[in-house]
Formats: sequence, structure tokens, C-alpha cells
Amino acid sequence: MRRLLLLGWLTASVSKWHTIVPFLEAANKPGSHGVMLDVGANDGGSTLSVMKGLCKWSFANLCCSKKAPPPVSSLTFITFEPQPKFRSNLVDLHAASGLCDTHKYEFYPAAAWSETTNLSFVERRDSRASLLEAVKVSRKHGDRMTQVPTLDLASFINKKLNWTDLNFLKFDVEVAEYSLLPNLLTRGALCPFDYFFVEWHLLFVNESQRLEAVALRLAFDSLIEKGCPPRPRGRRVFEHDETENNKLVKVPGLTERARWQNGHGYMPTAPKSGDSKA
Ligand SMILES: *[C@@H]1O[C@H](CO)[C@@H](O)[C@H](O)[C@H]1NC(C)=O
Ligand SMILES: *[C@@H]1O[C@H](CO)[C@@H](O)[C@H](O)[C@H]1NC(C)=O
Ligand SMILES: *[C@@H]1O[C@H](CO)[C@@H](O)[C@H](O)[C@H]1NC(C)=O
Repeated sequence: MRRLLLLGWLTASVSKWHTIVPFLEAANKPGSHGVMLDVGANDGGSTLSVMKGLCKWSFANLCCSKKAPPPVSSLTFITFEPQPKFRSNLVDLHAASGLCDTHKYEFYPAAAWSETTNLSFVERRDSRASLLEAVKVSRKHGDRMTQVPTLDLASFINKKLNWTDLNFLKFDVEVAEYSLLPNLLTRGALCPFDYFFVEWHLLFVNESQRLEAVALRLAFDSLIEKGCPPRPRGRRVFEHDETENNKLVKVPGLTERARWQNGHGYMPTAPKSGDSKA
């Protein structure tokens, strides 16, 4: 029934609901505690619609209503977003959504990164494409540079999240995923998650690093599955290759590799990160 209620909206909406709906269904079990970590929250739209959806979509054990006792299950929402223009939105998300005190909300006005420092940030006219300069993307006309604080995400997760909770990771960091996900993986910080929504942005990867970026994309799910201890309910990893950021993006070396795998030609020398001749 709930799935039916959601259907109209789902079809018009993005694919992150493939993991958000099962996450909320699990968190709705009496006494559960779910955590939604929204890394790259932008204007907070995704987190806000989940907060507002709890009653609308009839998650009775999570819905805050003035007419009913407090919900028996709880959620913690955590957002990360460095862009100052979204700060006032994100600070007030809890109040804007009418959440009761059963649910917690925390906002970190920082970019998720592999260490805690200050870094240059490229602000684009389309805020969803703004990103850390450290990921080495080419500058575009109209880009504005600012300094933003960064936070060591692996250390944050390892200190803050509990393995006994239901943990959901929404990860939309505009090409920083290719640097940050390997860092999180090797530091064990992806293991506590049950549900993943990862947005990939191959278009912004330097050509010389695209082959390894595609390899990471293809192996990601299985790296988590094989490298982490199992979760009680299994994991659900949903990866989103948004067409405009992935389709028709040239990957030097991929055809040569495929030819060799299929028995033709010579073993290609794979372009390496930092190899400008590739
Ligand atoms: C980042 O910059 C702010 C303001 O300039 C400064 O107060 C802070 O100490 C810096 N943080 C780090 C980790 O360097
Ligand atoms: C993890 O558990 C501790 C102790 O119960 C609690 O204080 C903390 O808020 C929990 N973390 C999250 C993200 O809910
Ligand atoms: C792409 O990679 C090459 C080699 O590492 C480097 O010289 C070049 O500056 C990179 N391009 C951008 C836009 O960062």
C-alpha cells in the first residue's frame, strides 16, 4: 500500500528512492534507530523530503504527530555541505520539516574529505556541480574560488556511527567520490552501512584517470561485500550513473583493454594516475 502511495511521486523522482524506501521500512520496525548520512546535501532537498515523508508515506512508527504519542522508532539525520549559501537552509532543516524531538538532526558546514583542514572549493553557477579543487577538475568560465573547511569523513563515521543502528549513506560529492570512497574503504568506514546511494560523475574525471575510475565503479559493490563483515539484513547498494555525467564520456584505454581481453592486439599499457602522456 505504502509502495502504491509512493508510486506517483517515485516515477517523477530520482533513483535514490530505491534505497531510501527500504531503509525507512526497516527503520519503521518498532524500536529501531536509523541514521541517514547525507554527504553533499546541497540545499538539503533529499533529507528534507525524507523528513517530511515520514507521515505522508504512513511510516506510523516514525511519524511525529501532535495528535498522537511520540513515535516508537527514531532517526538521526546528518548533513554535510560546505557551500555557505545553503547554510541557513541546512541549519533549520529540523524545524522546517516539523520533526519532533524523537528524531535528531546535525549539520556540518564542511566538505567531506580524507583529512580535517581548509581547502579551495570551486563554486559553480549550478551549485550541484560545485566541488573541491583537490579533485583536480578543469576550471570553467564563471567558476568562483572559496576556502572551505573539510572534515575527515572516515574518522567521523568511525567515531559517530553505531554498528547496531540501520545506517544509510547518501553520497553525492561531485567527482570527489573517486578519491574519497577508496579512503573510506581502506579505513573500514563503509562497513557500518546497510544502504548506499552513490552518485558517480565520470565526466569530471581527468581523462588519464577514467579507466581506473570505471574499474572502481564496477568493483565498488563487491569491494564492500567482500571487504566488510556481513550486516544482519544484508546490504543494498544503489549506484546512480546519471546519464549527463556518465554516458558518452570517453574512457581512454578501455577499447584496447577489451580487445586484448577478447584475444586481439597487444596488452595495453594502462594510463596511470598522474601520467600526463596517457
Ligand atoms: C581553517 O580556517 C579557519 C579560518 O581561517 C581557521 O580558524 C582554522 O583554524 C582553519 N582550520 C584548519 C584545520 O586549518
Ligand atoms: C551511537 O550510540 C551512542 C550511544 O548510545 C549515541 O550517543 C550516538 O548518538 C549514536 N550515534 C548515532 C549517529 O545515532
Ligand atoms: C590531468 O592529468 C594530467 C596528468 O596528471 C595533469 O597534468 C593535468 O593537469 C590534469 N588535468 C587537470 C584538468 O587537472
